[in-house]
Amino acid sequence: MTIFSTNKILFLFVIALWGTPLSGQVPAYNFPSFDTLIAKRGLPDPFIMFDGSRVKTLEDWEKQRMYIKDMLLYYQYGYYPPDPKNLKVEIKSSKAILNGKAMETRLILSMGPNNSITIRVDLSVPVKGSGPFPVVITGDREWGRTEGLEVATDRGYIVADFYRTDLDPDNDDRTNGVHPHYPEYDWATLSVWAWGYYRVVDYLMTLENVDKDKIVVTGHSRGGKTALLAGAMDSRIAIVVPNGSGAGGCGCLKYMQGGAESLMRITRPDKWHYWFQPRFSDFKRRVERLPFDQHFLKALVAPRPLLCTDGLEDEWANPWGAHQTQEAVREVYKFFGVPEKVGCHLRQGGHDHNPEDWEALLDFSDYNFFGKALPSDFYKENFDKVDSLLNWKSPVPPNPLGDINP
Ligand code: GCU
Repeated sequence: MTIFSTNKILFLFVIALWGTPLSGQVPAYNFPSFDTLIAKRGLPDPFIMFDGSRVKTLEDWEKQRMYIKDMLLYYQYGYYPPDPKNLKVEIKSSKAILNGKAMETRLILSMGPNNSITIRVDLSVPVKGSGPFPVVITGDREWGRTEGLEVATDRGYIVADFYRTDLDPDNDDRTNGVHPHYPEYDWATLSVWAWGYYRVVDYLMTLENVDKDKIVVTGHSRGGKTALLAGAMDSRIAIVVPNGSGAGGCGCLKYMQGGAESLMRITRPDKWHYWFQPRFSDFKRRVERLPFDQHFLKALVAPRPLLCTDGLEDEWANPWGAHQTQEAVREVYKFFGVPEKVGCHLRQGGHDHNPEDWEALLDFSDYNFFGKALPSDFYKENFDKVDSLLNWKSPVPPNPLGDINP
């Protein structure tokens, strides 16, 4: 009697291979394996450097940023290939939408080996004004044209909506999507999808009617996790606004309330394990051993503005935990002297990405881009901060942002 079928053995072999570094990724640090990591109480301190010393200067933080980036790609998301240099654009069609308020162009970006990787993008440009316009990118096009389209158009923003699943269909089959083109990279699905945002940014950088310093990213749920990852890794993105992003996004992995999704649940073999590098699943029964939590990902955005939008009743997405990672990352923003540039916007209701979330994104963007005041009740709904989760503080007194270039 055979215990394992041939398929099962092949599957285990592929998983084993995927778990070890592939040639395309070279961690710059010697990260400890799961077995040797020690459980710690509270949310880890993102200022502790690889050699055990603590960040003191902005130069230290530049190095620390690279370390945190590497740590997250290694344990959680997987390494992605460098920017392809051969981006091509094909315009498929163009039409007026929203009763003539915007022109929508369907285009196809192609890139990578033999330009065989393609992404469909719908780009809507307001008809009023001549630009350059700020832009909001979403990767959720397969769920329909975003509900924020009209409100964003009315407020003078271009919306670039792309199909993230053109890069990686939402399944655990690594023989499809981008994977066969880059077999040496271990990027898991969220990392692949985030790469889609980088490519859309490449394209936007070529357009005259785009204000290149004013690119915002958003996305909902799995798309929100992706938008946060994209904003964390690519500093051409000016503002980052994940919505309903939960586990692997703005939510907290170690601490949660109500019926929030845990690391254990999200990495179940019949669920979403393939969104993450397989090393992440090692922590499913020992989340307290994780050397980071989601405030590390958020810290990569600092000092650029970051807003997590959530529904108060969306317990699965852990809005309470998103508030705790926000309070933790605020210490990093304090280090830059800009604690007000990070926030959570909570509205009544559940798991949705609706025009109210979009209004919050646009208010936050207008505030940061154009100095418009935030509505007085912008942060009115809130959770309590749990002080015991934070046993460390920003290492220096608030520092004026000055000429820091993250
Ligand atoms: C599932 C998953 C969540 C995810 C959501 C979505 O509920 O557990 O982590 O955010 O799908 O993307 O819709």
